[in-house]
Amino acid sequence: MKKIQVQAQVGRAENEVTEVLVLLCCEGASDLAQETAAINAQLGGQLAALIQRGEFEGKLGEGLMVHTQGKAKAKRLLLAGLGKAKDLRLDAFRQALGSAVKRVRQAKVSSFGVVLPGALLEEIPVQDVAQAMTEGAILGNYQFTAYRSPNGSKPVDVERLTIYTAQASVLPQINEGIRRGVATAEATVLVRDLCNHPANVMTPTRIVQEAKAVAKESGVRLKVLEQKDMEQLGMGALLGVARGSHEPPKFIILEYKGAKAKRGDPPVVLVGKTITFDTGGISLKPAENMEHMKADMTGGAEVLATMRAAARLKLPLHLVSILPVAENMPGGRAMRPGDVVKTLSGKTVEVQNTDAEGRLILSDALAYATRYKPAVLLDIATLTGACVVALGQFAIGMFGNNDQLKEQVRNAGMRAGERVWEMPLWEEYFEQLRSDVADMRNIGGRGGGMITAALFLSKFVGDCPWIHLDIASTDWSERERAYLPKGPTGIGTRLLIQFLLDRTLP
Ligand code: BES
Ligand code: ZN
Ligand code: ZN
Repeated sequence: MKKIQVQAQVGRAENEVTEVLVLLCCEGASDLAQETAAINAQLGGQLAALIQRGEFEGKLGEGLMVHTQGKAKAKRLLLAGLGKAKDLRLDAFRQALGSAVKRVRQAKVSSFGVVLPGALLEEIPVQDVAQAMTEGAILGNYQFTAYRSPNGSKPVDVERLTIYTAQASVLPQINEGIRRGVATAEATVLVRDLCNHPANVMTPTRIVQEAKAVAKESGVRLKVLEQKDMEQLGMGALLGVARGSHEPPKFIILEYKGAKAKRGDPPVVLVGKTITFDTGGISLKPAENMEHMKADMTGGAEVLATMRAAARLKLPLHLVSILPVAENMPGGRAMRPGDVVKTLSGKTVEVQNTDAEGRLILSDALAYATRYKPAVLLDIATLTGACVVALGQFAIGMFGNNDQLKEQVRNAGMRAGERVWEMPLWEEYFEQLRSDVADMRNIGGRGGGMITAALFLSKFVGDCPWIHLDIASTDWSERERAYLPKGPTGIGTRLLIQFLLDRTLP
């Protein structure tokens, strides 16, 4: 799969020579957008007739390819639905372009264009629309074929998307939208790739190699703590989780200082759960769907990809990404239920269930992160099955101790189309985490599983302004959607980058 190049150009629908020209239409619009009137006339009113007859309704994700048979400069037109105008959200543009790019690929065509619908832009800023279209096209085109043998037929890759506007004055905004969209989408592609690779390949050692590649490309500082370093520091929780595996654990720290970020600037610190495979350990998981647990490293992949995007976008901020990396296996030296570990913070934990390993590795990573005295501490993790039960597939679970930060994250999620839903972080729930032998236990019993996991984490963040995102609900898609593949989705990545963009750029 080649990368799609996205570019902006001044032009009108009726003048452009293209293989496929996408025309975006809202549902129930009685007449065509102004941009399409001329091309409709060239086709003898065929487009308007299709809509009037109901052959194309404009439903979100709907598409209809029309061959122009030499009557227009574009070889084919693709009518693409945005849904009802009154419900129009930014995400409709992502979905429309995600569906469109698949139809273009099916037509075995390597480039396509899309006309910016001027009338719709009164409500949504043109830069955001260009960003969303870019994201939709790149993410909708995603395929993971690393392990497929070539089958002889040469695939036709979609290589170029041109966004046309009639107004030269908005070109700078469109170009900025494209720049951001390429960065966020390519970060998501990196996350999907890392999570798609099987766990026999994407081991903790391989994650270090991937982090090295990012550090090299981005010119950011990389520090990797090995097992003996963790022993010296006293990261008993992370070490405990790794004990059952032959793969040694790693603790990865990347640090980026953008322009204008002063030396002493308190950083934004991102922490991502990076379990390369979660068997559950001695508290073994059932066999069904266990292969999904190769994606239990999604949080770590996301903070790594966000680091790369921040550097590519040259964001003027101080950013640290931390990846606690281990494999959770039931080996002969594995932790047993009832074992007590001493965390980096000094607090002791009774491990009643070895499958609740995410909060263990995060407890050490969060305690380590507080040493940076962060302006924001944010962790992201495929943490609990309870998150899937509570929120289904369409919302990320959010917890935090700072209202302003929660609002910022909520807004970033809305803009990115990766929405969060806040859950309570009330101290009352801590009674479920009490242990008879240690400072706390690592499971909270029946009820509120997503909450008790978050509350466990809260005991390791000190008084830092902190956000926890549980992405167990969204990290894996059971079916293909407009711009989501079946399998690892990378959801959360664009939210993180948007959050950083909102903090730094207008
Ligand atoms: N990695 C899982 C959570 C998960 C479940 C992610 C489904 C994605 C999809 C986590 O380590 C886990 O196993 N959590 C346990 C905790 C329980 C033992 C308290 C769970 O949710 O079952
Ligand atoms: Zn687990
Ligand atoms: Zn896990």
